[in-house]
Amino acid sequence: MKNILVTGGAGFIGSNFVRYLLRQHPDYHVVVFDKLTYAGNVKNLLDVHDDPRYTFVRGDIADKHMLADTLRAHQVDTIVNFAAESHVDRSILEPDAFIHTDVVGTYVLLEAARQFGLERVLQVSTDEVYGSIPVGFFKEGDPLEPNSPYSASKAGGELMVRAYHETYGLNTVVTRGSNTFGPYQYPEKVAPLFITNAIEGEPLPLYGDGMQVRDWLYVEDHCAGIDTALHRGAPGEIYNLGGGNERHNIQVTKLILQLLGKPETLIRPVADRPGHDRRYALDCAKLKALGWAPTKDFETRLAETVAWYQQNDWWWRPIKSGEFKAYYRQQYGERLAAG
Ligand code: NAD
Ligand code: DAU
Repeated sequence: MKNILVTGGAGFIGSNFVRYLLRQHPDYHVVVFDKLTYAGNVKNLLDVHDDPRYTFVRGDIADKHMLADTLRAHQVDTIVNFAAESHVDRSILEPDAFIHTDVVGTYVLLEAARQFGLERVLQVSTDEVYGSIPVGFFKEGDPLEPNSPYSASKAGGELMVRAYHETYGLNTVVTRGSNTFGPYQYPEKVAPLFITNAIEGEPLPLYGDGMQVRDWLYVEDHCAGIDTALHRGAPGEIYNLGGGNERHNIQVTKLILQLLGKPETLIRPVADRPGHDRRYALDCAKLKALGWAPTKDFETRLAETVAWYQQNDWWWRPIKSGEFKAYYRQQYGERLAAG
């Protein structure tokens, strides 16, 4: 029996991962530990709510007492750490929470794992720690050159993971995932923002020239990659985890509009994101050697995702009418007016 603590399990990838774990490993007990920030949502986990193998605890990973109580109470042997502030644009507006959770929170978590002698800690990291790459593909040994407060805080947390492995022998694994999309993604990120704006007939604020490149990864494939690294990854190792679907932002934007039967006149070019990374691309041979591979092609997965948002407006409409409105005004108000 494995008792797995999934921190940040009420967020986008975390909640999909909880479902994935319960499906793939019927003998595991999963404890979600989540602060429920603006991005955390218990509705993401409604379908596992009554599963006896699932427990929810509300807590902050930077709160060492709460964390210790939870590890003890549920005899946790493994942690998968999704908990983070995850949106680049918010990190540019207000970096504080990013340092609190992504750096300090990760440290507190590692310290608890060390004290409790846990079997393994998997840190969910990001391809953004490498910075931008004009041509070629990042490999795991490449230097880290993060460019936003978000990616710098993720790099800081990750380096602390490395230190806990090297110094204390903690059994750690790191995954560096690429741009993820799918059901239950908070509609501040470009895919769900553009899909839901288009459904509502609102403009799609495309940054700069729209020629930035992201490598798109479907959320199920991301979950499968984390599961592979968790069970088959070597101690102290890092694994790139990308979908192999490089697309320009403008291509993705046009495809979303096409799938929804909406006009391209909804595209609104706006002022670029400061420090905007031009291109991310990963060499994922190391994880593939452990048996992981993405499943369906990007266009099929995007169509499935668009259909999910069309069919599940009960989920995103309340989000977009709450705190989100103030954020949207702050982030896009002047840009859209100027555009
Ligand atoms: P998300 O913003 O949807 O969810 C983050 C979750 O963490 C929320 O449920 C939130 O309540 C929780 N949380 C935040 N601060 C916390 C704290 N101090 N203590 C406990 N819980 C806290 O994020 P996501 O997109 O699902 O990303 C999950 C992880 O994957 C993050 O670590 C992110 O850096 C990484 N990642 C994301 C992507 C992507 O494209 N979304 C790609 C690669 C890596
Ligand atoms: O690469 C992995 C990372 O992907 C994760 O670590 C982050 O948590 C996740 O948020 C994501 O970061 P990005 O900054 O790449 O994602 P975002 O959806 O914010 O933006 C994707 C691209 O779309 C990026 O080039 C910026 C652009 N964009 C974004 C928004 C929100 C726009 O043009 N307009 C927008 O309104």
